Amino acid sequence: MKSLLFSCILLCVSVYAKDIPDPSKTAQMARYIINNVDWIAISTISTLPSVNSFPFVNLKSVSDGPLGKGTGVPYLLMTNLDLTGRDVLQDNRTTIMASLAEISYCNSVNYDPQDPRCGRLIISGELSKLDETTDEYKMAKNDLFIRHPIMEEWMKVHNFYIAKINIKNILILDNFGGAKTVTVDDYYNANDYSSIKSTKQAEADIVVVQMAVARNYRFKQ
Ligand SMILES: *[C@@H]1O[C@H](CO)[C@@H](O)[C@H](O)[C@H]1NC(C)=O
Repeated sequence: MKSLLFSCILLCVSVYAKDIPDPSKTAQMARYIINNVDWIAISTISTLPSVNSFPFVNLKSVSDGPLGKGTGVPYLLMTNLDLTGRDVLQDNRTTIMASLAEISYCNSVNYDPQDPRCGRLIISGELSKLDETTDEYKMAKNDLFIRHPIMEEWMKVHNFYIAKINIKNILILDNFGGAKTVTVDDYYNANDYSSIKSTKQAEADIVVVQMAVARNYRFKQ
């Protein structure tokens, strides 16, 4: 039984690695990354007096929709009170970065976070606040709550707003040979990334199999 468990782990890990899009499919890779991560690094031009006009970086939770069914649009929950919120009031330009190092993929195949094969997405654009009366706002709110349930509580007590990045430039690093540009059209058209099982789903499958094997093992004792 132990060897069965062991071979399952090996098998499951190899299945799971295969679920990552082919590095040559850059648009799919970009959509896969933004859909699978829960947070991004977000840079702005700082308005903090001590580092005024310096490049500045922060963290924001992100959602482009449910796992496997993302829209590609990075939606964020923002407030004017925090560092990033204050910066974008002055200048709405931003660059965000998401990496597969955030999910267990890179670690599982032994890629250092800086290894170019550990997929990385860098998106630049202008941040804009969503109008609360629009259908997009309702959808974005739902997308954020699905992935970050605590946000529903945050919104009750603080003056948050929902924003999106209006994408101007997309770079993907997922292999040797330098960063590749993905056009905005190709990015939004690459909806077929969802046929690839999401990493989180694959992880969940591994746990289910492991639990089943462990249960079986216990019963046989
Ligand atoms: C960003 O700010 C500029 C300057 O205020 C403005 O012209 C532009 O429309 C803003 N972009 C978005 C997406 O709101």
